[in-house]
Amino acid sequence: MAREFTSVGVVGLGTMGAGIVEVFARNGIDVVAVEISAAALERGQATLTRSTDRAVAKGKLDPADRDALLSRVTFAVGLDALHAVDLVIEAVPEHLDLKQRIFAELDRVCKPDAILATNTSSLSVTEISVATSRPNQVIGIHFFNPAPVMKLVEVIRTVVTSADVVADVEALCARLGKVDVTINDRAGFIANALLFGYLNHAVALFESNYASREDIDAAIKLGCGLPMGPLALMDLIGVDTAYEILDTMYRRGGRDRRHAPVPLIKQMVTAGLLGRKSGRGFYTYERPGSPVVVPDEATPVGDQAALAEGARATAKVGVVGSGTMATGIIEVFARAGYEVVSVTRGAEKSATVCEAVKTSLNKGVVRGKLSEEERDGALGRITWSATLDHLADVDLVVEAVIEELSVKKALFASLDEICKPGVVLATTTSSLPVIEMAMATQRPADVVGLHFFNPAPIMQLVEVVRTIRTSPETVATARAVCAALGKTSVVCGDRSGFVVNALLFPYLNDAVKMLEASYSTADDIDHAMKLGCGYPMGPFELLDVVGLDVALAIQRELYLELREPGFAPAPLLEHLVTAGYLGRKTGRGFRDHTHR
Ligand SMILES: NC(=O)c1ccc[n+]([C@@H]2O[C@H](COP(=O)([O-])OP(=O)(O)OC[C@H]3O[C@@H](n4cnc5c(N)ncnc54)[C@H](O)[C@@H]3O)[C@@H](O)[C@H]2O)c1
Repeated sequence: MAREFTSVGVVGLGTMGAGIVEVFARNGIDVVAVEISAAALERGQATLTRSTDRAVAKGKLDPADRDALLSRVTFAVGLDALHAVDLVIEAVPEHLDLKQRIFAELDRVCKPDAILATNTSSLSVTEISVATSRPNQVIGIHFFNPAPVMKLVEVIRTVVTSADVVADVEALCARLGKVDVTINDRAGFIANALLFGYLNHAVALFESNYASREDIDAAIKLGCGLPMGPLALMDLIGVDTAYEILDTMYRRGGRDRRHAPVPLIKQMVTAGLLGRKSGRGFYTYERPGSPVVVPDEATPVGDQAALAEGARATAKVGVVGSGTMATGIIEVFARAGYEVVSVTRGAEKSATVCEAVKTSLNKGVVRGKLSEEERDGALGRITWSATLDHLADVDLVVEAVIEELSVKKALFASLDEICKPGVVLATTTSSLPVIEMAMATQRPADVVGLHFFNPAPIMQLVEVVRTIRTSPETVATARAVCAALGKTSVVCGDRSGFVVNALLFPYLNDAVKMLEASYSTADDIDHAMKLGCGYPMGPFELLDVVGLDVALAIQRELYLELREPGFAPAPLLEHLVTAGYLGRKTGRGFRDHTHR
């Protein structure tokens, strides 16, 4: 029989604590909510009221249920009010000495059989537990932000946590409607160990002016389908809390440089730019605690049209290549009203690409996405050719041939001879340096990367890659073309992986390393990222879709360019690729797909 929890205590009513109070009270459990001062208590109480009022306004909570929920919560200053509760969850700032002091005090105040839990994200639960005389009743219950919304709870057992306590807490999570994963005490547990290297890296890209905050966030949302970009997420987590978590993970997690907080984070903390809670972090908010972003001096002025100021007129576009990307890109341009010249290496290839474009357009008609006239119009705008000479009068060339530098360089040298002056020459490379292709021509200022995502007709994002020689007019033209295609463009520098792959693949690689270390299972890791961070797919699901060979190739490139030890490909990833387990396409990757 699982233990009955009739009343619980929550210590600290900040970003997490206030949400945790709501979770318990919503599920019929009495809560004693404590803070350090009357002012902090008032703030916490206001957060709870705002959150429940919002739920009522959105029709997610009945007004009567809100009143019942609020009536279950008692507010108090100081820990003495917790003498009768069955369980305490501590959610004070991420400092070991502070948490240890609080646990020593809770041990003194609380009844002997009370369970003492910490919501720490990165500190050692074991070290916190030894500040009490009952380490076997100390456990980690790690909620995710916002606690009322996110389904996941990580339950952290130390080597001394009693099995009964673990079972009782697991049953409690189920009662709260949460999904728990129970794991051992390791820095960052599952989700944060995989999340924070990525967040820190995103801040580093921003700090080095590699891309703007809006572009970094848009790239991740549109390129990976994540619910938030990394900088917006830093603001939600709290820049100070993120700093402490990174710092602890760096010290506890093997001094991985990727966890050493980027200097900008510390500067922001010192300057009081803590994110949503202080009204300003990477973005500026309507007021402290508000989720509404308001424009500030860093907000780009005007719309996409203004961004494209200085752009050259583009009406006719050449697309070189006959693979998946070229086919998609031809369709995208033709549908958007451009005259398209498709160049392949022979009539047979042209016929195949033509068929593929027709099939895709027909699908669009069947699904009601475009009319028969629109389909015929698009097809009528495409000319099929097997010679680059037909590109003499186009305004833009997009190259999507095989990912081999020598082939691409030779192609750019030919385009340089054939194309008229002022033409923008673009490459869709995912991993090669754009500057290499630019320098194969006599006009490097006109060369840019246009990194479409697969499938090009569906994916909203295009990365516009600016080399150190690309002119502002070329970038403006690329952005204007993307806007005319109905795509969102983000501008970034010419580094391996651009924005999306540079941030995504090291995280996937880290997940493989975590599995390899037997810290958790593929299922639990996938669960943690989906339910704790709102990712549309877990890392192993995604790796099987992307292809393990593709992931390995990208990770190798990143490692070779940056020489970052933490980017070294996971040996398990290499072994699976060697064994031919490449994911869905071969029927087996991290999972067996043959019987599904
Ligand atoms: N922010 C997140 O996204 C997130 C997610 C999961 C877990 N966590 C963890 O939750 C914990 C709290 O983080 P947060 O972001 O809510 O911090 P926060 O700064 O928003 O809130 C901390 C609260 O604790 C109160 N406090 C400080 N000292 C106290 C004391 N002696 N007694 C009672 N209250 C005290 C503060 O007044 C403040 O309201 C940390 O361990 C953090 O790592 C945070």
